[in-house]
Amino acid sequence: MEADLVARLEEKERQLERYAADLRETFKAERARSAELRASYMATVRALANAVEARDAYTGRHAERVAAYGLEIARAAGLELADDPQTEFGFLLHDVGKVAVPDAILFKSGSLTEEEYSLVRRHPVIGVEILRDVDFLGEGKLVVRHHHERWDGQGYPDGLAGDAIPLAARVFAVADALDALTTDRPYRPASSFADAREEVLRGAGSQFDPIVVAAYRQIPDATFQALRESL
Ligand SMILES: [Fe+2]
Repeated sequence: MEADLVARLEEKERQLERYAADLRETFKAERARSAELRASYMATVRALANAVEARDAYTGRHAERVAAYGLEIARAAGLELADDPQTEFGFLLHDVGKVAVPDAILFKSGSLTEEEYSLVRRHPVIGVEILRDVDFLGEGKLVVRHHHERWDGQGYPDGLAGDAIPLAARVFAVADALDALTTDRPYRPASSFADAREEVLRGAGSQFDPIVVAAYRQIPDATFQALRESL
């Protein structure tokens, strides 16, 4: 009787161990699958961003650099959105709507006509239209729509001002300006990071959110330089 009970208990214990092992395996497999899914999302977003950039020999890896600078600034500001992949998706895809702007306008060397400029200004809205059904981009789509808004409300497409501009888009604006200034353009050579810094600081409170600029200020030029060289 006693031996029978012990045997039954031992069998139960073995069974529980098997369940636990199964659960551990399932959990590990789930985790691997979700990491794989995340990596696929990121690779897809990068592919799309690179397809947009491939048109423009001048900007090169602009989207990758802006994403890296933007995340660095968001981290310096202690923002949770720095850890949200949707933020990086938005940074990478900000200009996807430019696919709808003809080369003749996008690469025009002279100044744009009123009509041409208004077409260029539609690219954030076109971008959001293109990405509308891609649910995993989530809040990233707010960056696409609002990446040309200005803190003083003089930006586009919605003329939002101050805190009404989504935070990730306010971070993006600083990163975007920094990369634009430190990259050669057909009509002017690149500025140094030190010169670009002065320009960005001047824009605090008009073009840029002063809090975001304050976070940017804490990051040395060498950090951005190293990021630029690593991409
Ligand atoms: Fe843009």
